[in-house]
Amino acid sequence: MTTTELNSLIKSRRSVFPKDYTGEKVDDAIVQQMLENANWAPTHKFTEPWRFIVYTDEGRKKLAELQAAVYKQKTELDGTFKEERYQNLLTKPFESSHIMLVYMKRDEKKSLPEIEEMGAVFCAIQNMYLTATAYGVGCYLSTGGVTFFKESNAAFGLSPDDRIVGFFHIGQPKNTNLAGRRNPVESKVTWVKG
Ligand SMILES: Cc1cc2nc3c(=O)[nH]c(=O)nc-3n(C[C@H](O)[C@H](O)[C@H](O)COP(=O)(O)O)c2cc1C
Repeated sequence: MTTTELNSLIKSRRSVFPKDYTGEKVDDAIVQQMLENANWAPTHKFTEPWRFIVYTDEGRKKLAELQAAVYKQKTELDGTFKEERYQNLLTKPFESSHIMLVYMKRDEKKSLPEIEEMGAVFCAIQNMYLTATAYGVGCYLSTGGVTFFKESNAAFGLSPDDRIVGFFHIGQPKNTNLAGRRNPVESKVTWVKG
């Protein structure tokens, strides 16, 4: 890969949402490569804190049922239950080919500040985003739904100390040429040269 190609890959990476997926299945081998590349993210002290549960095929039903149940459990108690939201949690997972629950597992000694472990997990996510872009696959990270419900850890079989980072959606995109927008980098950088 040339540097020009690398720059273009990074710039053309987009979040592609389920409404913009064709509904076709993405090859498991591509998802496996995304995971392999995620595993090469930088990691302070080699704690490798990234973890993934990949739901696809009929596995998406399990995700749908788990997230709907945890939503119901929490919101019926605090009085915020909404039937439409519940139904969305039950049906939306089928719009994506694969959905990964991405979470952070800290090392037992907790030798690093949590922000460092979280940073490593986000680097792993970016590796997956870029790999998907290279393969012409759509994806996006969702931190909605039940991501931040404290009840979600037990529902998904995680330890209380694990931190759910989000749900990474993958699908065959209808369009691979999506425009992005950013403010100029100059507005975010200070150079010091002496
Ligand atoms: C930490 C993080 C959380 C995100 N959570 C959501 C989300 O919950 N819902 C959503 O629609 N997009 C979410 N996104 C995707 C952003 O909407 C997307 O990155 C942004 O629109 C910029 O578009 P681009 O990724 O195509 O450059 C998230 C992105 C990041 C980095």
